[in-house]
Amino acid sequence: MAPYVPEEVNVFSVPHSRMKELVHNYFAMIQSTNFTDGVDLQQLLECLSRIFFEFKTHEQIENRFIMKRLKLKLKRLSIKNTAVCNCHKDNNLTEMIRLLKDGYKKKTEQDRLNYGLQLKKALEDFTRIFLPHMKEEEEVFQPLLLQHFTYEELRDLKQKVIQQHFEQ
Ligand code: FEO
Repeated sequence: MAPYVPEEVNVFSVPHSRMKELVHNYFAMIQSTNFTDGVDLQQLLECLSRIFFEFKTHEQIENRFIMKRLKLKLKRLSIKNTAVCNCHKDNNLTEMIRLLKDGYKKKTEQDRLNYGLQLKKALEDFTRIFLPHMKEEEEVFQPLLLQHFTYEELRDLKQKVIQQHFEQ
């Protein structure tokens, strides 16, 4: 279970609620898509592309405003933590974005049906990594932030992180 963190300094809670909502949305969308229909598939791909753009943006904001600062702080204290350095290395976002682009090239019903199966599996695989990844950020990185930053620093950081998400 995630340790208690005051909402005011919880830098992950708001963005992660949004990310989890998007995960829920894409599973609902893929269930209701008729892959034999090219227009249906195109609408799905457009929605998924927007969702994965949000995921990518979320990752970039975290890298820039949270992980970079946390890494610097740990480095100054001579604390080694490879999880902080590698937390966004293997999350399959690039492969997913490539797969979505590929979907626009499917011209026959059979190709679209096969693609639908491939896409469903890819989304399941991606989710299997993405949800635990967010959990790790909430349960491992947030306590590290609390340990090494002041309450005021974290309050400012949270505001910055949220502001960045809303600006996208
Ligand atoms: Fe919050 Fe790295 O996803």
